[in-house]
Amino acid sequence: MATMTHGIRQDITGHPKRIPFRKRLAVRQAAFVVTVACLLGLLSSVVQIYLDFGDQVRNRDRDIDHYISTVYEPAANALWELNGNMADAIVGGLLGYDLFVEATLTTGNGFPLAQKERPIMDSGAIKMAEWLFGGRQEYAVDINYNDDGQPFRVGTLTVISHPYKMGSQFIQRAAVTFVGGFLKSLVLAGVLLIAFYLTLTKPLESLSRQVDALDPTDVDGEKVVIDTSAKDDELDRIVQAINNQIDLTHNHLRELDAAHQALEQVNKDLETAVDVRTKELTDEIEAKVKVERQLRIAAAQAEESALARTQFLANMSHELRTPLNAIIGYSEFAKINLDHVPPEKLHEYLGHVHGAGTHLLDLVNSILDLSRMHAGRMPVDYEEVDLNELVADVAQSLESACTKNRVDLTLDLDRDQCRIVTDRLKIKQVLFNLLGNAVKFTTDGSVRVESRWDSPEEDLLTISVHDTGIGIDPLALPTIFENFTQAETHLSRRFDGSGLGLSIVRETCELLGWTVSVKSEVGSGSCFTLVLPLGSATRIDQSDRSGETA
Ligand SMILES: Nc1ncnc2c1ncn2[C@@H]1O[C@H](COP(=O)(O)OP(=O)(O)OP(=O)(O)O)[C@@H](O)[C@H]1O
Ligand SMILES: [Mg+2]
Repeated sequence: MATMTHGIRQDITGHPKRIPFRKRLAVRQAAFVVTVACLLGLLSSVVQIYLDFGDQVRNRDRDIDHYISTVYEPAANALWELNGNMADAIVGGLLGYDLFVEATLTTGNGFPLAQKERPIMDSGAIKMAEWLFGGRQEYAVDINYNDDGQPFRVGTLTVISHPYKMGSQFIQRAAVTFVGGFLKSLVLAGVLLIAFYLTLTKPLESLSRQVDALDPTDVDGEKVVIDTSAKDDELDRIVQAINNQIDLTHNHLRELDAAHQALEQVNKDLETAVDVRTKELTDEIEAKVKVERQLRIAAAQAEESALARTQFLANMSHELRTPLNAIIGYSEFAKINLDHVPPEKLHEYLGHVHGAGTHLLDLVNSILDLSRMHAGRMPVDYEEVDLNELVADVAQSLESACTKNRVDLTLDLDRDQCRIVTDRLKIKQVLFNLLGNAVKFTTDGSVRVESRWDSPEEDLLTISVHDTGIGIDPLALPTIFENFTQAETHLSRRFDGSGLGLSIVRETCELLGWTVSVKSEVGSGSCFTLVLPLGSATRIDQSDRSGETA
């Protein structure tokens, strides 16, 4: 199985496949030269044989004439003298030549004085000779005797020639010529084959192997070398050309490699620069986004704050005016009608004036508390507090409001006694606000205060205020702890209040490290949860609790 690699046929091992014998350059060159030489040799042999054939034919006629003329004189004497012995000798002498197979000396009156013949064996060679030079040929010569200058015919010499001897010699020579020519061609072919192999095929094969083994990517690889005796011949030129191409390729590869490395470096630098710039831009964008966000938040806060302050002013003017009007109105009425009004009525008016004044004082106190907490100037006054008692106090103070709103207020406290160290006024204020809201926003329902030591290990005291009141709109829920914020606008407000209660709750929680959260559903009610993390310093009844929980 062979595969094509770099245009050279290779076997499966990767080595170039050996070129078949008949396809080799040396064989083809030798075959061509030998064929031409054979044809020329054949032609020359044919010409040589043809010339030899012509010579042979001519020599035969000349020899016959020569032999006849040689025996002419003796034959004339033998006929003249009718000398049989001599005639026999002459005839026998003629048969001594290979050319003649029969000779006869006949007297003038037709009497054969001497006759001899040589038998010829019939064979293929004789047939061949007869085909080439003809069969038997008869030559008859009148023999004249010169009697005193007067020629006198005395008889006839008849010879019959046959080319068997001449033909067989000719065939032998022709065969030698042909076979010799063939053998010469054979030797020439062998010599040429070796010469072409050594000078062409072998160097070319070596060249092919080396070129095939070249690794174009190995810039330090060896060059092509061939062992040729002749320098600066065509093969040497090919080797030089290949080596020049290898040098060029290697130079290109080196340049390419250098360019590639430079490009990689540029890419790396570019990537680094892009990364650095991207980071800078990202940081810039993030900083801008952050600043923008802060600006937006600040603007929103400022807007909200401005809105809240406007609302606060509107509310406050209303809140302040209401008790002030009540104070002024009742006191003025009492002043004008002091003499006519019965003392009980006057007492009632003074009670209204006192209530409005107290309300006004609460309002002003709330604002003062808030502003002090904002300014961080609110003092914290720790003391021992019985939480259950405090909750009961707050609930007691809301009794009339509960009656008015028909609210059933229940206390679900974790234990009989729960003493902690904290700021009494502040926890009372927080609980008063949460319970006050629960009662204020509930009509014909219930309010439940629940306290739990939910996580004894972490000392978390949880106080929840549940109500079944109107609930809070989910949209208003996130802002109800903001200053001066109420879920209902002042125009549609059905409930009294300045929107400061939950603000004070939140600020107090932040001050004392408590947390407050709310869950509410419109129409179902709300639940405000207060979580007080109590450290050992603030928890009084640790031993009691340990005893109880053990
Ligand atoms: N338990 C509750 N049920 C329904 N809405 C409540 C409840 N508690 C608070 N809210 C809503 O939250 C708003 C803010 O409460 P906050 O106590 O701060 O103000 P206020 O009660 O209106 O006025 P103030 O407490 O200053 O007299 C209330 O106006 C009310 O809309
Ligand atoms: Mg309130």
